[in-house]
Amino acid sequence: MIEQINILRENGEKKLNSITSSEQLQEWYQQYLGRKGDLTSLLKNLGNLSTKDRPIVGKIINKVKHELQESFELRQKAMRETILNQELEIDDLDVSLPGRPCITGHLHLATQTLRRIYNIFQEMGFQVYEAPEVESDEYNFQLLNIPEYHPARDMWDTFWVNDEIVLRTHTSPGQIWAMREYFPKPIRVILPGKCYRFEQITPRSEHQFYQVEGLAVGKNIRLTDLIGVMSEFAHKMYGAERKVRIRGSYFPFTEPSIEIDMTCSCGDKGCRLCKYTGWLEVAGAGMVHPVVLQNGGYNPEEWSGFAFGMGVERPAMLKHTIDDIRNFYSNDLRFLQQF
Ligand code: FA5
Repeated sequence: MIEQINILRENGEKKLNSITSSEQLQEWYQQYLGRKGDLTSLLKNLGNLSTKDRPIVGKIINKVKHELQESFELRQKAMRETILNQELEIDDLDVSLPGRPCITGHLHLATQTLRRIYNIFQEMGFQVYEAPEVESDEYNFQLLNIPEYHPARDMWDTFWVNDEIVLRTHTSPGQIWAMREYFPKPIRVILPGKCYRFEQITPRSEHQFYQVEGLAVGKNIRLTDLIGVMSEFAHKMYGAERKVRIRGSYFPFTEPSIEIDMTCSCGDKGCRLCKYTGWLEVAGAGMVHPVVLQNGGYNPEEWSGFAFGMGVERPAMLKHTIDDIRNFYSNDLRFLQQF
């Protein structure tokens, strides 16, 4: 058996020296020193020897095991150094090269557009007023002159939380919050925020989008003031070359009501975004309805006001020639990083 042990040690050492890869090194370890390896099975066979020989042979096996373990570790260390040197040569490391720059994020296009809109209206004396995103039926509809079962409710496809609560379909309920807070002072505010509609998603419509509402209440405020403010906004936002078009419209909370359109970035050609008309609707607006003024606490005999509500994504699409609103919230960095 001693001869068998010596042969095993010699073969082990020889084989170890011819090893060239870490896979071979692992295989070698399993064969000689592993739990099912040759030396372990020799130790298991000790029971077949006489009581006299057993301790002597056991000692020799343990010594060989120890020696092979040492040789293995030396070989492993040498191989690691060789691999490292090879990698360093291949990689041609230059420690004097500058580091890679960190990628920093930036504001989302919707936020950039909101801030641009704030700045333009701020210059015209409007303050930012924030109202709730989750609303009651009363604020979202009733106080805006849209009673239950009024056909105008069909204008807004609504996400209902329960029979009483809705995710606001527009920023207009903020008009009531602002009036009830400011009464009896004159008001000039914009009300930005998210709106939600249970709507078919298309290149120009999302089910979740931003609006900016505007509200001015005072004495002798007229429709021409509204048109003046919106034209000033359009020219500051898009430049003088974009044309503005005013159309008569209907909203239950304004009287008269108008719709404000701007020329599309496609020019006269027509595209998916403008439904091939060359015009894109940017805002609904009008003079605040007497019932709404009254619900806000203002006497319509004494006070008048205008209001408008515009999208945020659609103006951004106009400005940057984006033809699909779905790009805003699909989180594709190739899109977002362009702005
Ligand atoms: C309203 O929501 C009215 N509350 C606006 C208003 C306010 C009128 C004050 C009068 C006085 P409308 O549903 O048209 O109106 O929406 C206003 C703007 O929001 C649209 O012009 C459009 O720019 C944007 N918008 C509406 N629905 C979507 C949608 N699904 N996705 C993206 N933008 C939308």
